[in-house]
Amino acid sequence: MSEEAYLRNVDLLNKYAYHYYVLDDPIASDEEYDRLYHEVLAFEREHPQKIRPDSPTQRVGDRPLDAFEKAKHLSRMWSLEDIFDEDELRKWIERVEKGLDGQRAHYYCEPKYDGASLNLIYEHGKLRQAITRGDGVIGEDVTQNARTIRSVPLVIDEESLIEIRGEVVLFKEEFDRINAERERAGEPLFANPRNAAAGSLRQLDPRITAARNLVFLPYGIGVNSLTTPRLSDMMARIYSLGFKAPPLRRVVDGFEGIEAMYEQMKAERDGYAMMLDGMVVKVDEIALQEILGYTVKFPRWAVAYKFPAVEKMTKVRDIILQVGRTGVVTPVAVLEPVEIEGVTVERATLHNFDEIERKDIRIGDHVIILRSGDVIPKIVKSIPQRRDGSETRVARPTHCPVCGSELLDEGALIKCQNLSCEARVVNAIIYYASKQCLNIDGLGERIVETLYKAGLVRSVIDLYRLRFEDLMKLEGFKEKKSRNLLEAIEKSKGTECWRFVNGLGIEHIGEVASKQLCEHFGLGFIDATEEALLAIDGFGSEMAASVLEFVRVNREQITALMETVKPKAPEPKAEVKEGPFEGKAAVLTRTKSGPGSVIEAEIEPLGAKVSGSVSKKTDFVIYGEEAGSKYDKAVSLGVATLTEDEMKRMLQ
Ligand code: IVH
Repeated sequence: MSEEAYLRNVDLLNKYAYHYYVLDDPIASDEEYDRLYHEVLAFEREHPQKIRPDSPTQRVGDRPLDAFEKAKHLSRMWSLEDIFDEDELRKWIERVEKGLDGQRAHYYCEPKYDGASLNLIYEHGKLRQAITRGDGVIGEDVTQNARTIRSVPLVIDEESLIEIRGEVVLFKEEFDRINAERERAGEPLFANPRNAAAGSLRQLDPRITAARNLVFLPYGIGVNSLTTPRLSDMMARIYSLGFKAPPLRRVVDGFEGIEAMYEQMKAERDGYAMMLDGMVVKVDEIALQEILGYTVKFPRWAVAYKFPAVEKMTKVRDIILQVGRTGVVTPVAVLEPVEIEGVTVERATLHNFDEIERKDIRIGDHVIILRSGDVIPKIVKSIPQRRDGSETRVARPTHCPVCGSELLDEGALIKCQNLSCEARVVNAIIYYASKQCLNIDGLGERIVETLYKAGLVRSVIDLYRLRFEDLMKLEGFKEKKSRNLLEAIEKSKGTECWRFVNGLGIEHIGEVASKQLCEHFGLGFIDATEEALLAIDGFGSEMAASVLEFVRVNREQITALMETVKPKAPEPKAEVKEGPFEGKAAVLTRTKSGPGSVIEAEIEPLGAKVSGSVSKKTDFVIYGEEAGSKYDKAVSLGVATLTEDEMKRMLQ
């Protein structure tokens, strides 16, 4: 084959693949494709220096990794707030409208895919890196695997640096095929397409990933320099770059439009190739998205309107009370067991007493329960028509079911205020030891209860005072178990700062907020002022007040615990915000404002190092209208170049 024919054939193969994998509209037979593929492969074997980066042969990596490297997203990956019904949708729209102060938004509706999220970074039109979501800031580098996904273009017609985010899914048919194959091979089956997709994406051997036929469905962008004022147009641009478009999408006007779209998608979803677990609604105007901004976890301009999953009817046997680590008393319905999607459901939370009253749920009632995805089952409604008179109402409790002290009834919440109530102490310790906090192996519910009952722990710090002899006296504790537990507790010393903060169980402060507190203040968070707390992105007055109050009441205990645990504090970097410039080497050339300028003052506090000359180590060259040799050098070295406007957009 001549070189010319080679180039033509690579284009042809890519065109066939695009029609097959992205448009779902094949224009060549498998045979034709395979024949051409082998010809291309033969040419490349003879002329390895001429291999095109977008050749389909370049997708299949064959070297398994030992482990995935951690990698940082250029801008944060957010998650979505869930809503489940019309009422919640109305409230969400109200919040959006209030936030926009009368400006009218349009809403872009598209499917919520059920898979694993992935961030693709393209630079100079080439796929540079693919990173799993991780905690939204740092994920795992799965570039080798992503390259095997045929709906991930290796090359796109977009020069500027861009992050394209989407969901990696398995089509339902492919899921069935894989499970049938696993069954034949006597391997454990995947529970659902989401787990299968996530597992396939995180294979150390890319050949396994390649064999799973994963699909990438884009839903958004991170760092970019597109200038379209509407999300819908931005996404249209993304689809036109060779990405797969959703089976249904539309810009609608308000509540009615969203509802109509939701009903349509819900009715059609069984016919789609991929699993959907809801519809995502996003404010279409980018300028309005910016006004609305973000909470610590979610954009305020988007919401996931979940599909009601499977509903089942069952009977309420009893309503019991649980006391959590914050003292809140939660009513829980004990149900006649029913199976939903392979899981036996025996309990459902009732959230609070106002809800029991509003839904009029009584012991003995027939109720409809709903379980969707990972969400804890909830009771949708009772069926009063099926009552026979034997049903009983539950009264609002006045005394703690665990310690007997008087409860504080705040309306929606009823709280036990006794700090040494067994339930509060035990649950606080279980939480402290849990995976998302200190991650103390083996310290689960049963053991904490045993330790408490034996009088060995009355607060978290007592864990660090446990002695081998004490444990050996407990029922069920032999030498090995006692030693393992003490070791696991000892190992929690020197933990990361955020785990420690999260473990304190401050109300309204979860994992994300704990990380932010540590990034800003390190262990000095106990001395942070209200003003400093409110300056953290996404921190509202409720969160700030909660931190301040917690520290006020518990300062001594926190300090003592810190001295024992000695958490590793990250370098506090009060002004450095995570973002595209952190740790990057930048060069400014002929910018309107020049070196020593406004731009420098803007990006240096974000962690960028500004220097005078361009080299391979430079990450960005920011250039002005009359840029000259530095710009040329950047281009020839393949260094990213940004105009001032592009840079400003990245800052936003
Ligand atoms: S947007 C800026 N859109 O759902 C908001 N997410 O529950 C970021 N997901 O982490 C997310 N389909 O992995 C968005 N059409 C869609 C989606 C979608 C699926 C996933 C995504 C995200 C999770 C949040």
